[in-house]
Amino acid sequence: MIVLGIETSCDETAASICVDGKIVSSIISSQEIHAEFGGVVPELASREHEYLLNTIVNKSLKKASLNYHNLDGIAVTQGPGLSGTLLTGICFAKGLSQGLSTPIIAVNHLEAHIFANFLADPELEFPFICLLVSGGHTQLWYLEDIDEYTLLGETLDDAAGEAFDKGARILKLGYPGGPSIEKSAENGDPNAIKFPRGLIKSDSLDFSFSGLKTSLLYYMDDYSNKKKEVTINDIAASYQEAIIDVLSNKLLRAITDYNINTCVIAGGVAANKKLRTKIHALLPYKKVIFPELDLCTDNAAMIAYLGELKLKNGEHSEIDFGVLPNLKMKTF
Ligand code: KG4
Ligand code: ZN
Repeated sequence: MIVLGIETSCDETAASICVDGKIVSSIISSQEIHAEFGGVVPELASREHEYLLNTIVNKSLKKASLNYHNLDGIAVTQGPGLSGTLLTGICFAKGLSQGLSTPIIAVNHLEAHIFANFLADPELEFPFICLLVSGGHTQLWYLEDIDEYTLLGETLDDAAGEAFDKGARILKLGYPGGPSIEKSAENGDPNAIKFPRGLIKSDSLDFSFSGLKTSLLYYMDDYSNKKKEVTINDIAASYQEAIIDVLSNKLLRAITDYNINTCVIAGGVAANKKLRTKIHALLPYKKVIFPELDLCTDNAAMIAYLGELKLKNGEHSEIDFGVLPNLKMKTF
């Protein structure tokens, strides 16, 4: 089966072709216009998707040496995400589906992030635990089979990616925050400042990152009066360390509580190299999967892959489906 995937949930315009479970092309265009505003401007993002979609989809077909008439299905992100940007992808996908009389399937972006791990490791088998860490979500899931997912814990306030982005803004390190904090932290001391680790001692598998952000704000309030033995790189490294400590400790607890041998990490924050190293070090006897960097951050390969899986299972969407900006993953 040949499936085109389209992803426009935020500021990446992406298209990909999946053929029988294998990705044969994946094109991602990251919108750079938002950098000067320090965050994604929804209206600009939507206009940019409108402008780019046709070219990106054509490129994905060309790279796969295919044309529109070869498609057996179209998969598109339905949510969660920005309503305007989601709408651009959905309208484009519906137009194609109608014009080509090809089935369409609406895909949950979060579920697709998790399923990117099957692309990273085709040997991956259920059951496994997933630490899902994106810009808007921080969740721990127990996945027993397709559509059999249990939410074990989630953030009570900010997501880990949001903590990176807000921290970078406070430190004036630029957008997007995750990569810029990671880069600055490479030259800093992670033990320079002991930032709070929210809920780390609690038995629950929930997370909290808002106290960490507030603590950074207070620290920076009188930074200009402090002696500069502690550099911005030290602060970035200490801040990153606090986030990574919490994420890895909660994952370890979930793996231990559920006596599971396999865990996967999904979402943009999974691209963080220090997080990867720490989790591998904490779980030496477990199977730990991190997708390659392009499959961690937003991409259409994960949409095409999950879409194909669902179409093969006999599912499809009616043409009148709408955007679901707050779409959640169903708990089993
Ligand atoms: O999954 P994603 O690309 O988009 C959403 O679905 O939200 O995640 C974006 C988030 C942003 O908050 C970004 O700062 C973070 O992932 N991120 C990182 C890294 N690369 C992206 N966080 C930490 N380290 C990174 N290398
Ligand atoms: Zn995402």
